[in-house]
Amino acid sequence: MRNFLRRNGNASAENGADTTSSLIDLRAVKKAYDTPTGPFLALRGVDLQVDRGEFVAVIGKSGSGKSTLINMITGIDRPTSGEVAVAGTRLVGMSEGDLAAWRGRNVGVVFQFFQLLPTLTNLENVILPMDFCGLYSAGERRERALHLLDEVGIVEHARKLPSEISGGQQQRVAIARALATDPPIIVADEPTGNLDSKTAEAIFELFERLVDQGKTILIVTHDRDLARRVSRTIILADGDIVDEFLARIFPAMSEDLLVQATRQLATRRFEPGEVIIRAGEQPDTFYLITQGEVEVHIPTPGGDVVGTRLSAGQCFGEVELLRGGRNIASIVASYTGVDAATLDRATFEALIAASPNVQKELDRLAAERLAENIATRTKK
Ligand SMILES: Nc1ncnc2c1ncn2[C@@H]1O[C@H](COP(=O)(O)OP(=O)(O)OP(=O)(O)O)[C@@H](O)[C@H]1O
Ligand SMILES: [Mg+2]
Repeated sequence: MRNFLRRNGNASAENGADTTSSLIDLRAVKKAYDTPTGPFLALRGVDLQVDRGEFVAVIGKSGSGKSTLINMITGIDRPTSGEVAVAGTRLVGMSEGDLAAWRGRNVGVVFQFFQLLPTLTNLENVILPMDFCGLYSAGERRERALHLLDEVGIVEHARKLPSEISGGQQQRVAIARALATDPPIIVADEPTGNLDSKTAEAIFELFERLVDQGKTILIVTHDRDLARRVSRTIILADGDIVDEFLARIFPAMSEDLLVQATRQLATRRFEPGEVIIRAGEQPDTFYLITQGEVEVHIPTPGGDVVGTRLSAGQCFGEVELLRGGRNIASIVASYTGVDAATLDRATFEALIAASPNVQKELDRLAAERLAENIATRTKK
């Protein structure tokens, strides 16, 4: 399958060198689990790039592969094939020992069930990763742990055991522990899944604050309301990532349809000045811009007029496909060139037919576009 999450076209990292500019970079990652009935493909070739400072929610039905994906990023599990580079290090091929040491400094992991060591105090739980990584002096470790417990609002419970505090408080300790070595990335698999909604909100706000402080955070969540508040949402379905541009442009499309559409998308590159759609011709394709800009050229009696510009995340071609008839405007790649994801007419029509909500959204888009075109014509 293809999806269009690549922010930068760099080659994947080789032999651990920092040749990628994304903080998290997964290429064609497949993960098969052995089962009694044969291998089960939990990730089907995932491409994902996450940049520094992003706050990403990973959502999708139970069994869609969210935890599997997260475990690829933390190095807790290994892909069957594909490349994983995180914080400039290529994880594939590293020994368990090297992976653990690398994880200790680079990724703070937060679990649904906290997983604090029950015989250590909360303070000792937070000190542990610093001990493990040999970071800071003994005195500094203690001071830092107390500071972190203060930051997450539970320093008064520092000397208690995890069993002596509530679930929400334990999760705060777990977050302090994840921050102990000051890793650039925090990964959390359903961190609020075991908490009441008020406590979940408080924990989520803590994550928001960490993003403001410059951390890059990925959380798996089933909570759609929380997922709406992050800067980016990744939808997983049956081991595939749904195209993010499609998901954003069709928020009302069901997950199943989004997956189908993602699997049908093709990528195309248009050079600067290239005419992508010609006015007067028969439409046959739906385009979704993934990078660069296009100009809408509207024919008028006095010659073409350049109307709106459309950029990444916007679509074109849908007006003509929806309304029938010929192309009412030409679409030309601007000086940067354009990458677009495309759907052929038959797939586009099938998608629309399958979703009345999407039809409504597209009608609205089409009406907007027509109004712009008319405004441009009458200005002339
Ligand atoms: N160790 C394993 N052996 C065999 N199959 C597995 C294993 N771990 C996961 N799977 C299967 O892989 C698929 C993805 O599992 P995963 O745990 O990543 O899903 P998830 O999206 O995290 O689900 P949930 O929301 O329930 O936590 C599921 O069908 C699951 O049954
Ligand atoms: Mg899971």
